Amino acid sequence: MKLDKVGIWSEIKLDIIREYANAYTKIMKKKAWCKGYVYIDAFAGAGINVSRKTGEFIPGSPLNALEIENLFTEYHYIDIDREKTEALRTLVGGHPNIQVYEGDCNEILIKNIFPSLAYRSRKRALCILDPYGLHLNWETILSATRLETVEIFLNFPLMDINRNVLHQDLLSADPDQIERMNIFCGTEEWKRVLYVRQMGLFGVDSQIKIGDNVKLGKWFKEERLERAAGFKFVSDPVLMRNSKGGPLYFLFFASHNETGKKIVTDIFNKYRKYL
Ligand SMILES: C[S@@+](CC[C@H](N)C(=O)[O-])C[C@H]1O[C@@H](n2cnc3c(N)ncnc32)[C@H](O)[C@@H]1O
Repeated sequence: MKLDKVGIWSEIKLDIIREYANAYTKIMKKKAWCKGYVYIDAFAGAGINVSRKTGEFIPGSPLNALEIENLFTEYHYIDIDREKTEALRTLVGGHPNIQVYEGDCNEILIKNIFPSLAYRSRKRALCILDPYGLHLNWETILSATRLETVEIFLNFPLMDINRNVLHQDLLSADPDQIERMNIFCGTEEWKRVLYVRQMGLFGVDSQIKIGDNVKLGKWFKEERLERAAGFKFVSDPVLMRNSKGGPLYFLFFASHNETGKKIVTDIFNKYRKYL
């Protein structure tokens, strides 16, 4: 299997997640009421990647979450690609409390994992949603927030969005790509935020882009994660860029817990200067 080659931005993402996971499990371990603290990696990958910079093998997010002082009480790893889940099983097989699932995380989270995290379960979970592109359904985010036990790191995939959806004239974008964006955002409102209609001689003949990534990120934070999904605490995201400065994705954190937001905001601020 060909391993994913990752840039420095992915290494920073993993450092951020590991730092928070470390703080999270230390805090949760001390809560007598807590019956378990769970790590969910919904777009897990193969477990190991190759650094573009050095060519070295580097741990992917599933192994990264095992490199902490106090382990989570359960680990759930999902990937849609069979080769990746097989590689992952080889890497973590035999490790107690780890389950690897092959399939679409939008189904597996809702059917197999979230039902065990109801509020009365007295469990808490950190869920990493790290797709390459628009592969996450808004319904999945809603199912997570409704539990009030799950906090998320979310990769908001700007590169896929900018390349395939946000054409200068929206009418030139493929309707299937526009539908992927609607499913990810759970609404078509982004069109109103980013575009104006321009009337030609024969009625509407173009929708011209006037909004940028910053406007889109602010809208997604305030109108979707906070207002529509009801996450009470959402950090200002970090913008991950490639080595040429091109925007790749926003990394969001959303939670129902104020301490979680405070810790992540400090971690994000520490890393902003490298991005
Ligand atoms: C950005 S990579 C994950 C990288 C990994 N989180 C890391 O940091 O090492 C995205 C992964 O999502 C998987 N994927 C794509 N669509 C998926 C879906 N609907 N459900 C689960 N996995 C999916 C891909 O096979 C790929 O391995």
